[in-house]
Amino acid sequence: MKIKIQREELCEYEVTSNDATLLEILNEIKTTQDSSLTFASGCRSSVCGSCAVRVNGREVLACSFHVQDGDIVEPLKNSEVIRDLVVNMDKALEFNAKAKAYQSSTCRDVSLSPDDEKINEVQSDCILCSSCYSACPVYAVNPEFLGPFALTRVWRYVSDKREVDNKEKIDTIQTNGVWDCTLCNECTLVCPQGISSKTDIEKLRARSSLAGYMDPSFASFGAGFGSSFDGSPSF
Ligand code: SF4
Ligand code: SF4
Ligand code: FES
Repeated sequence: MKIKIQREELCEYEVTSNDATLLEILNEIKTTQDSSLTFASGCRSSVCGSCAVRVNGREVLACSFHVQDGDIVEPLKNSEVIRDLVVNMDKALEFNAKAKAYQSSTCRDVSLSPDDEKINEVQSDCILCSSCYSACPVYAVNPEFLGPFALTRVWRYVSDKREVDNKEKIDTIQTNGVWDCTLCNECTLVCPQGISSKTDIEKLRARSSLAGYMDPSFASFGAGFGSSFDGSPSF
């Protein structure tokens, strides 16, 4: 079986393993053919998110993906390649910080019911693999888009009853945020945890509307009806 790996150039490797995971194949190549091959991995059980790459243009976890003859393996998109299949995640993590995708240091002293816990249970399972960030086509036109990785995590905290700064978080995601998403659903299709960032962005849009914001592309229709040009509410 042969696979190709995008390094400085597209390199072809003959591998022996049958029904192996991509991570096992990468380890085989590294130990038997080319020790300089560079890739990231950790848990080997789809938990740590560190081994995400693209195969035939689609984001996968190398430790759970089973390779087929002729597969082409590439690093994640929308991030600087450090070497071979390893990318620099700093930008993706910066967007999380910019979007305030974290719980505020002070939080309400309320206990959550089982139903409350269910609201953001799915988003809490994010393994930070950045596959959704890689799959999002918006970065081709707007490199400052906060993106599905950060926005799903914003929803995680905005929907948490204990969060005190929900409004501040909603304010933060109006620029290069929820309205820049095209709702194409590519992020959902590649998420190994079954998280739909697209749906989370739609929920954040609904919360934004409740806070008085509107889609800036419709804002010009509202001129003179209480909305300013950028879609922010005018009081
Ligand atoms: S649904 Fe939105 S966030 Fe997800 S990939 Fe498409 S444009 Fe990006
Ligand atoms: S939402 Fe899914 S695809 Fe995106 S970083 Fe989390 S686990 Fe990975
Ligand atoms: S090695 Fe941890 S998710 Fe693949």
